[in-house]
Amino acid sequence: MALKTDVLVIGSGIAGLFTALQVSEYTDVILITKKNQSESNTNYAQGGIASVIDTKDTFEKHIEDTLVAGAGLCNKKAVSILVHEGPDRIYDLIELGTNFTRKNGKLDLAKEGGHSMHRIVHARDFTGQEVERALIESIKLHPNITVIEDTLAIDLLTEHNANNLKEATLNNRNCWGAYVLLCNQNKVEKITSKVTVLATGGLGQVYLHTTNPAIATGDGYAMAYRSGALLGNMEFIQFHPTSLYTTEKDRDFHTPAFLISEAVRGFGGILRTQDGNEFMEKYDSRKELAPRDIVARAIDNELKRRGDEFVYLDITHKTKDDILEHFPNIFKTCMKYGIDISKNYIPVVPAAHYACGGIVVDEFARTSLKGLYACGEVTMTGVHGANRLASNSLLEAVVFGYRASMDIKDLIKKYESEIPEIPDWDDSGTLSADEKVLITHSTKEVKQVMWDYVGIVRSNLRLERASTRIHNIFLETENLYKKTKIFEDILELRNLVACAHMIIKSAQLRKESRGLHYTLDYPTPDFLTEPKETLIRNTHT
Ligand code: FAD
Ligand code: SIN
Repeated sequence: MALKTDVLVIGSGIAGLFTALQVSEYTDVILITKKNQSESNTNYAQGGIASVIDTKDTFEKHIEDTLVAGAGLCNKKAVSILVHEGPDRIYDLIELGTNFTRKNGKLDLAKEGGHSMHRIVHARDFTGQEVERALIESIKLHPNITVIEDTLAIDLLTEHNANNLKEATLNNRNCWGAYVLLCNQNKVEKITSKVTVLATGGLGQVYLHTTNPAIATGDGYAMAYRSGALLGNMEFIQFHPTSLYTTEKDRDFHTPAFLISEAVRGFGGILRTQDGNEFMEKYDSRKELAPRDIVARAIDNELKRRGDEFVYLDITHKTKDDILEHFPNIFKTCMKYGIDISKNYIPVVPAAHYACGGIVVDEFARTSLKGLYACGEVTMTGVHGANRLASNSLLEAVVFGYRASMDIKDLIKKYESEIPEIPDWDDSGTLSADEKVLITHSTKEVKQVMWDYVGIVRSNLRLERASTRIHNIFLETENLYKKTKIFEDILELRNLVACAHMIIKSAQLRKESRGLHYTLDYPTPDFLTEPKETLIRNTHT
């Protein structure tokens, strides 16, 4: 059942759904997603979407806040595009049916760390869920989009899949779709397309503690890497300062940590050590509202200094009504753990949250492979630099998703070349996995190694250790992959290993501390040379 389409979109978070909707105005789209449509990082987003809406706010201020957070590594042109086109995309989302919270008829604007103004458009504390709902409803009404759930993209189709084109150089490579696993049938199919859009989201599952759901196994980064596309800034992993602290018995190894939104600190939440003392003033004059890298490192330092497992976030000085009005989802979830946040402090710890780097794309979301676009978290558009400003991610997904759709429109119109013959998936000689424990164990090991050695604070020694461990797991996994009939867990492990490799390699290349990358061996930014991106490409493909 090989499928053919003009445009294949991989992923059903905000980036995939929004881009698919725009593209379907002029051509046919197949959208695949590995679980059900709504399961995505987007669905868990709480705080909201940053944009200049208030008349007292200005584009210049939002640009400045983004550049300051990005610690000298943002692409100024990309930031300008993000900020200037942001309001139009917010109104597009409203047009598509998103119900953002309003006050006296106007959009209610919240404040988060690193923002100089109130500019976070939100739907109480479940913004992502509301956006997903609206986009999925719109897609249902669209005859040009075919959505196929439970379908996991394995690898992109490029010259290296077509028998007679294997010698094509990396600089002149095309993408013509993907091999995909139909998870419910355990069967691999081929989808060929003139254009492919990777919108596969983040990689938080590379780490032991993460706010990201189980789908965030970095598949898009890994597929792009294996196909020879250029990636950048993979060392900049954002650790959210405040995820709910729970004990191991409350979750298995890929259950996400529940996020306590930054908006809680924007609303007046105070961080305290377990003896009840405030500590943020020691680290930054902006205290709880300093950018995330600073707050996460401050918490990490307090935990190490005191030997504690969590700090507290205190919102008890607000009334219960106020808390319920703003944070119904957080209130309800904490209650499940016996914490009434109007009376009790909330135990919190940092957790891996967001990848600032990714597949290098230009201002129209074009990757280094012809016909391959990428949107959303999986990309490096240049807007986040070394540290993302809160709530700029959902915005990036819609701004650059829209731009991708404009460019794809032109490309489809003038598309003349033939898609070459690409062989069907061949798994002859492979056997069904009978020792799944090998995969579970390696997955846990990757997550533990990355948490222990490639976390908030790094060093040359830790990175070297991580590199050796991950290389061993890579060899074992590749060996198993070649012998085994594929299934989801082995594909995801392979992708986690590839992402771990890219993060470690990029971290080793950066001989300074900057933004989210902090290393004991080079504790300051390199003031002598112009800051540059860390670029990485697999040249053995
Ligand atoms: P996702 O929403 O993650 O969607 C990726 C999609 O790709 C999913 O449908 C997934 O199933 C699919 N997929 C992945 N791999 C494959 C594959 N191999 N084959 C097929 N399908 C695949 N950002 C903000 O700006 N504001 C916030 O308030 C905010 N809050 C957040 C709260 C939490 C708890 C988390 C985890 C993140 C938050 N973020 C926030 C970040 C933001 O939500 C994400 O960066 C953003 O949603 C990413 O959107 P996306 O469309 O790129 O990816
Ligand atoms: C949050 O609500 O704290 C998350 C916001 C973000 O990741 O941008």
